[in-house]
Amino acid sequence: MYKIRIRGGLRLKGEIPISGAKNAALPLMVASLLTDAPLTLTNVPNLADVAFMADLLRHFGVGVEWTPGHAGDGGRFRLCARDLTGTTADYDIVRKMRASFFALGPLLARAGTAKVSLPGGCAIGARPVDLHLKALQALGATVDLVEGYVVASAPEGLKGAEVAFPSVSVGATENALMAATLAEGRTILLNAAREPEIDDLGRCLIAMGAEITGLGSSKITVDGVKSLHAAEHAVLPDRIETGTYAIAAAIAGGEVELTGTRGELIGALTGLLEIAGAEVRETERGMCVARNGARPISVSADTAPYPGFPTDLQAQFMALMATSDGTSRIRETIFENRFMHVPELLRMGADIKIEGDTAIVTGVAGLKGAPVMATDLRASSSLVLAGLAAEGETIVNRVYHLDRGFERMEEKLRRVGAEIERLPS
Ligand code: UD1
Repeated sequence: MYKIRIRGGLRLKGEIPISGAKNAALPLMVASLLTDAPLTLTNVPNLADVAFMADLLRHFGVGVEWTPGHAGDGGRFRLCARDLTGTTADYDIVRKMRASFFALGPLLARAGTAKVSLPGGCAIGARPVDLHLKALQALGATVDLVEGYVVASAPEGLKGAEVAFPSVSVGATENALMAATLAEGRTILLNAAREPEIDDLGRCLIAMGAEITGLGSSKITVDGVKSLHAAEHAVLPDRIETGTYAIAAAIAGGEVELTGTRGELIGALTGLLEIAGAEVRETERGMCVARNGARPISVSADTAPYPGFPTDLQAQFMALMATSDGTSRIRETIFENRFMHVPELLRMGADIKIEGDTAIVTGVAGLKGAPVMATDLRASSSLVLAGLAAEGETIVNRVYHLDRGFERMEEKLRRVGAEIERLPS
């Protein structure tokens, strides 16, 4: 177990390389189950969740060759599911990483059967999987719930169908998209999620021989093919990591260039940062965020599916608003229990009240360092950001949450001048 110690109050200057996106890498790795030929992925971040996913794939009989990269360099995976030796994902792995559930659709499409544990409770709300299951049932699968497991089968193969999602789900769209590539006939996904990670997955599937149109829109059409083939694909930059370090520059002040990323991936956030008084501009290698002088100005935000303001940046943005001049209202519309960072920010002197799905944040002139406890991945990163701005020392405990989704965060922040280190706890 580790903790992170931060001495706050230093301005940041320099550049931070942005890694490949965790939320793209995980479904892309799962896509290897769809073919007996190798899938090579580059720009894969070196994260605990990626290692979990590699273990899960090995468990299905996938040959995994992993050459991890260094921060910003990107790792390389060669995944080959020539012979599947298993189609069951046990509770022990699914409970650690919900993205294991993405294996359901590809296993079903390739092997005609799959047994995947229900993910169970999760720190940020109930997070059901009904939309995943309804989509696979629409494609002709029979689905039973047996002793905490989803048992799905389609012995004659999946059949293309129209799948209208009643609400937007990233994971269910990805599961259905992967399954539909090998279904017989045409599948139309309506009210599909439009997150860039879905576009990335779709482009990789096309490189593998899938026939997909409409990526990036809420109507995706897939014409099933008999088999997919080998391909190589570079994982897109992590927009949540990009946004987190953009907020780091805004909260600590100074000027940081984020390289290897694209500003358009976080358009909703950059709009808010500009209103708050930060300067944001595109550069040849990525984007640059600066804040010099005055305190940030309060600005309200509601989370929404892409291209709206992402729930995965809500906690980090709240840390910035906790230091701003004025009062902002931050409404969480995606997950029902995603304010666990609030009590920890209060311990650092923030003034935040929760009313239902809305946090009312009255900025304070200065946060104070304190020992705090990370409760989930994005909440942990918000505490690190608050620590950068706080006076004195902040200790963030339970850093393993951070390691699930941020590649060497303390190293990246140190290179722009933050005083931050990892210590055994
Ligand atoms: C993905 C991201 C996660 C991000 C979330 C929302 C990955 C690995 N994770 O999670 O970081 O916070 O998108 O942008 O990509 N829902 C249902 N039934 C379902 C599925 C979802 O009701 O079957 C609900 C969820 O409880 C939630 C909402 O739909 O309220 C959106 O969830 P979803 O988009 O599915 O999130 P994930 O794919 O789990």
